[in-house]
Amino acid sequence: MNTEILVVDPHHPQPEPIAHAAAVLRAGGVVAFPTETVYGLGADALSESAVSRIFAAKGRPANNPLIVHIADLDAARRLASHWPAAAEKLASAFWPGPLTLVVPKADSIPAIVTAGGPTVALRIPDHPVARALLLAAQRPLAAPSANLSTRVSAVRAEHVAAGLSCRIELILDGGPTACGLESTVVDVSGPRPRLLRHGVIGAAELTAALGEDIEIVERHAGDHDVGIASPGMHRKHYSPAVPLDIVDGSGAADLAELLRTKSKIGWVSCGGDASPTAPREGVVQICLADEPEAYARRLYDTLHTLEAAGVEHIVVERPPRAPGWEAIHDRLTRAAAK
Ligand code: TXA
Ligand code: MG
Repeated sequence: MNTEILVVDPHHPQPEPIAHAAAVLRAGGVVAFPTETVYGLGADALSESAVSRIFAAKGRPANNPLIVHIADLDAARRLASHWPAAAEKLASAFWPGPLTLVVPKADSIPAIVTAGGPTVALRIPDHPVARALLLAAQRPLAAPSANLSTRVSAVRAEHVAAGLSCRIELILDGGPTACGLESTVVDVSGPRPRLLRHGVIGAAELTAALGEDIEIVERHAGDHDVGIASPGMHRKHYSPAVPLDIVDGSGAADLAELLRTKSKIGWVSCGGDASPTAPREGVVQICLADEPEAYARRLYDTLHTLEAAGVEHIVVERPPRAPGWEAIHDRLTRAAAK
C-alpha cells in the first residue's frame, strides 16, 4: 500500500485534506493525525474491521485496548454506559486536553477496541487538526500512538512514516506535537479514581480537580498480562531500536566504556552542567532542558533523531527526581527496560 502524506496547517487546517482524511476513515481506512500529545493512528471506532487494521499496522497485541477520541462531551457520554461523577469533574477541568478517562463502556463499542474488557478509554484531544478530523468524520476514532508496538511514540509525521509507511492509507502532517508525551490515563470506572499512566497532567492537578486523593497504580506489574490494570503499562514500552541506559552524573565513564566496542553513541544530557566538557569523537550529544515540560517536548524527538543518526547505544543522564518529572522517569525507565 502506498501511504499518502498531506501537509496541513496545524492551527487552521485546510478543509480539503481534512475532508479527504475523513472519507478515508469512513471507508474503513487508517489515518495518522497529530494531537497535542503525540501522533495518533486513527480508524472508525465503531467498525471492527477498521480497528483490526490498526492492530495489524502496529503489530499491537490484541489484549492492549485503544483510546477512543471524540469531539465533545456529549459524544463521550454516549460511549459510556454510566458517566461517573469523577469523570464529570475531570472532563470539565481538563477536556479538551491530554487526559484519558477510563469509564464503563457502552454496547455500541466493539469488543476489539477494549480488548474484550468492560471499560473504554476516552479522550477529547486539544488539537485543531484532530478536532476538525473528528467533526468531519462524524464518528469516534480509535487511535493509539502512531508507532510500531513497544517503540517510541511519533511526535512528527516523519516518525510516523519511518515506522508505518506502506501499512496505512494516509498521514496528516501537522508538524511537531506540542506536549511530546502521551496523555495521562485515569480509571474512573471504580469506586476510587486510579492513575494508570503518568502523563502531561500530574497527580497533584488531578487531586485538586477531584477534591480527593488519587490512587497511583503500581506499574511494572510483570511481563505478562494477567491482572495488569492497563496493558500499556508493560515494563518494556516506548523503546528505541537500540539499547538505552540511564546514568547518574556526567556519563563520561559510561561513554568511554561504550566507545571501546561501539563507534557511535548518543548522549542525552539534562540542563548542561553534567555534560562532557568537549565534543567527543563518536558521541552525538543532545542537551535537553532542566525543566520537565520543555524536556518532555523534546524527549521522543531526540530518541528518534539519535535512531536516525545510526547510534548503536543511547545513554541518558538521569533527570532530577522532582515533582513534575514523574512521566519522564516512567518513560525513560521503560525505554531502558531490558
Ligand atoms: O496521548 C495519547 O494518549 C495518545 C494520543 C494519540 O491520544 N494515545 C496513546 O494511545 O498513547 P496508546 O494506545 O499508545 O496508549 C493507550 C494507553 C495504553 O496504556 C492502554 O493500555 C491504555 O491506554 N488503555 C486503553 N484502554 C484502556 C482501558 N479500557 N482500561 C485501561 N487502560 C486502557
Ligand atoms: Mg503507545
